[in-house]
Amino acid sequence: MIREMLGMGEGILQDLHNDHGEVDDLLDRLADCADGAERGRLFAQLKTKLLPHLQAEQEILYRRLETGQAEASRQFGHEGMSEHQTVEQQLHKMSGLGNMMSDQWTAELKVLQELIEHHVNEEETTGFGCARDEFETDQLEAMSREFQTRKAELMTKVG
Ligand SMILES: [Fe+2]
Ligand SMILES: [Fe+2]
Repeated sequence: MIREMLGMGEGILQDLHNDHGEVDDLLDRLADCADGAERGRLFAQLKTKLLPHLQAEQEILYRRLETGQAEASRQFGHEGMSEHQTVEQQLHKMSGLGNMMSDQWTAELKVLQELIEHHVNEEETTGFGCARDEFETDQLEAMSREFQTRKAELMTKVG
């Protein structure tokens, strides 16, 4: 209990939560940004952060949950994967739109923000809960190391 309160023994779940915070911050900065060039930089930064997160999270957490003991874990694994696809499609759509200061781009950003907010809420409640049930502390720690390694590898390929 004390370990949980201090955020210890959470392994990969702590890493994921940290990333979610950074992504949330980038989304807010993008929404507030009134300069096209700056928006371009922030959007590129968002993709470099988010795409490796999604991919590494799928490979290291979701795939294990998909074959988990509990039905809720297996369900979250599949649902999460599907929601990632929606987020990726939205990023792709936004990348293809020309003027990032247009009303359309701003509207698509709002949609992206809502998609991510919904997904992260579900992940940090249902998904993290399932992971705490399925895995021991040392497994979560090992998954943390795997996640960081994989993410670093993927970051060199994106953007
Ligand atoms: Fe995540
Ligand atoms: Fe996710």
